[in-house]
Amino acid sequence: MDNFYNVKLAPQNTINTNEFSTTLWGINFRLPLLNAAGMFKDGQGYDVVSSLGAGGYIGGTSTSGVRDGNIIHGIRHPFISLHQSNIAVNYLGLPNLGDALLHTKTITSQKISGCPIGWSLMRDPLLTEKEGVTELINSLFLYEQNPHIDFIEINESCPNVKLHNTSVDFENRLQYVAKHFLQKRTRHLPVIVKISNDVSIDALPNILNILFKYKFDGINIGNTSTNYEDAIKYIAKDDVSLFKYFTKNFGGGVSGKYLQSNSLFLCTEAVKYKNTQNLDYEFHVIRTGGVASYEDVLLSKQYGISLNQWYTGFFSNYILHGNDVYNNIFLSIP
Ligand SMILES: Cc1cc2nc3c(=O)[nH]c(=O)nc-3n(C[C@H](O)[C@H](O)[C@H](O)COP(=O)(O)O)c2cc1C
Repeated sequence: MDNFYNVKLAPQNTINTNEFSTTLWGINFRLPLLNAAGMFKDGQGYDVVSSLGAGGYIGGTSTSGVRDGNIIHGIRHPFISLHQSNIAVNYLGLPNLGDALLHTKTITSQKISGCPIGWSLMRDPLLTEKEGVTELINSLFLYEQNPHIDFIEINESCPNVKLHNTSVDFENRLQYVAKHFLQKRTRHLPVIVKISNDVSIDALPNILNILFKYKFDGINIGNTSTNYEDAIKYIAKDDVSLFKYFTKNFGGGVSGKYLQSNSLFLCTEAVKYKNTQNLDYEFHVIRTGGVASYEDVLLSKQYGISLNQWYTGFFSNYILHGNDVYNNIFLSIP
């Protein structure tokens, strides 16, 4: 690993994907790395990332209703990128065009083998819990009709929206989704659940037990953090005042380097727990948070994590390597 950053880049599009490709639920991902949800909220960008060499694509997070996202202190979709720290903070609030329109979208007319398509969705936070979950079920059936979509991610973890009723518990909601969608799917469409990277290690077995009980197909750990007090320790000196200003005035979710070790730890524990359970079906642990290098991908693999998603790390790498953003990860191998 020592020489990781010193390796000369090879020309674009020469990754031997056979070496890295992985198959989850019978779906082939040519590389174990793809964008995280929120990068292409309205289903744009497939042809771009597939040309860059991504191992897959995920669109959304969408909601049943159209959302403009947050406007606060006159700022629409507040976001900061702290380059020195490799950390970003966003308070976007799930802007999207809504499921009625998005499920009909032709995500690509050039789908590439080995670059499958996922879709992230969430119950509409403006609705009551009951209405929100009912609409979520409707939306799941809408996306099931879109033949481009290979898997679904349910976002159970956005810190940037105020939920109408948070008292109804996680298990009831997932039980409802299982009964009214998972058990009624009419085609092969794996459904994973994305939780927060702020989840405590003690809560993880219970969360996993619920996912196993209702036969969800995987877990993604996970989303951004709102643990500002801890995150500030990872902020470079020159970025501290902006970080403090933003989190005090806007709030938002912290992404990037701060999540790197935590996402690995939580996912590793999730894999270990899963392995004690003798499951009679295929369940995968997917890592998101601070993934930015081949070393991150390798560590994930070593600990049994099936797939990685990246957002902040993608842009940190894109600034440095442009269209070689995936090549740089997978060709720079010691
Ligand atoms: C600008 C921005 C928008 C995001 N929007 C979403 C979203 O719509 N749905 C979601 O599940 N996660 C969203 N996320 C969280 C990312 O998918 C990811 O879980 C998080 O950023 C941690 O990964 P990273 O450290 O690679 O950035 C967003 C993150 C950022 C930075």
